Parts: sequence; C-alpha cells; structure tokens
Amino acid sequence: IIFSFYSTIVISIKQKNISEMKSDFINNMTHEFKTPIATINLAIDAIKKKLMGKVDTKSMGYLNIIKDENNRMNNQVENVLMISQLEKEKIELEMKMMDLNKLVQLAIDRVELLSGSVGARITKKFDKKENIMMLAEEEMINVFVNILENSLKYSKSNPVIQIMVKNEKSNTIVFFKDNGIGMTKKIKTKIFEKFYRESKGNIHNIKGHGLGLAFVKKIVELHAGFISVQSQIGKGSTFKITLNNVNKT
Ligand SMILES: Nc1ncnc2c1ncn2[C@@H]1O[C@H](COP(=O)(O)OP(=O)(O)OP(=O)(O)O)[C@@H](O)[C@H]1O
Ligand SMILES: [Mg+2]
Repeated sequence: IIFSFYSTIVISIKQKNISEMKSDFINNMTHEFKTPIATINLAIDAIKKKLMGKVDTKSMGYLNIIKDENNRMNNQVENVLMISQLEKEKIELEMKMMDLNKLVQLAIDRVELLSGSVGARITKKFDKKENIMMLAEEEMINVFVNILENSLKYSKSNPVIQIMVKNEKSNTIVFFKDNGIGMTKKIKTKIFEKFYRESKGNIHNIKGHGLGLAFVKKIVELHAGFISVQSQIGKGSTFKITLNNVNKT
C-alpha cells in the first residue's frame, strides 16, 4: 500500500512537471510570434504611407486586409499567452519602475481599432501627471486592454468609457467606468472565475472565452493589488483596481 501510494505521488509529480513544461513551451513559442507580427505591422504602415495617393484603391484595400488580419493574429497570440499564464500556478512577473499613466495610454491605443468600429469615446483623467511604480509592463497593459475590450463589447451603441487614475495617501486607484449593459448582483460574483460567461437568456451574444477577467484578477493580485466591480443592469459598470503605494516613488 505504501509503495503504491508513493508511486502515485511520484507519477503525479512527473505529470505536473510535464504539464508545466508544455505550458512553458506554448508560452515561449507564442512569445516568439510577437516580434514578427509587430514588425509586419510597422512595415505595412510604412508601405501605406509611401503609397498613399499613388496606388489604386484595390491595392490599398489589400494592404488593409493584411493589416487587419495581422492584428487579428496578434489578438489570438495575446489570447494564447493569457491562457498559458492562467494555467501556470506560479507566474513570475518581470517588474520594473514605470509610469502607470503611460500604460493606460498604451492600452487605449491598442483598442483603437475596436473602439473606432463601435463609435466609442474613451476619456481619461489623471490626478497626477505621472505615477511611477513597480509594474509588469506587458501584463498590466493586457489587464487594462481586457477591461476596455469588455466595456466596448458589452455595451449598447456608442459606448462612453471614462478612465480615472486617482491618488490616495497609500493607494493608486484606476477606475474604468462604462455605460454598457451592466450586470446583476449574481453575475457580478462570478465574472472573475475562469471560463465564466454570462450568455444565457438575451444578456449578450458576443463571442469570448470567459478568461479575460480571471487573467485580470490574477495579474492585479500578483501586484499585491485588488479589483472590484460596481454595476447596475442597463446602466453600466465600474471596475476599480487598487494598487498599494509601497513600491512607488
Ligand atoms: N463591462 C462589462 N459590462 C457588462 N458585463 C461584463 C463587463 N465585463 C465583463 N462582463 C461579463 O463578465 C463575463 C466575463 O468576462 P471576461 O472578460 O472574463 O470573459 P469574456 O469577455 O466573456 O471572454 P474573453 O475576455 O476571454 O474574450 C462576460 O462574459 C460578461 O458577461
Ligand atoms: Mg473579456
């Protein structure tokens, strides 16, 4: 009995290692796609700029297709990275001193295409010009992108999103307020769970994996912060990320 107990444990440890290795592999592979995708994007922009007005609309149309599809590929890569990070028990984030306000702006830039397509207006208000603190750059941008994407997806027409960064004595707080479809109390308690999506009834019929907010919560907590949400059905939602000022200049 002792032997079989022991061997079961050994096997399960081995399996766990293999699964960790697998997720590391996917993570690294996917990461490798990011640089070429970014380079292709820059190259397309350069060609478009050069050919502006000198080329027929059909050719310009093809260039736009390449750009849109490249963006789509980038989103899929981000999704795979997000999933593989959620799978891992321990994620080590590369934290550096940087400006939180800048990361907010970079996230807004990343959702530009989507926000343009739904006619959204995104406003921002920073208490202070700069908020230099210890942050994991890519992951924190993705946190903001996920929240913004949700506000853009789960909204009626012409969404308005207000981002505010407030400074308290011991905390820096980021608010994302939208005027979207909102959530009931019951939905609110579940949205941070992996794979949870509210798609029953006629709440919404938008595609997704139900992973965005699980990732958001995990990353915020790895920054020793916390996230909460206030919402009213039909009126909108406000997501609040509270980060401690211990590692702030
Ligand atoms: N701003 C919001 N307004 C209304 N409902 C929201 C909002 N943000 C999230 N939700 C609800 O919470 C659920 C979970 O969100 P989450 O971002 O985790 O997953 P998703 O958007 O469904 O998929 P994914 O982000 O993985 O593509 C959503 O399906 C939606 O029902
Ligand atoms: Mg989402």
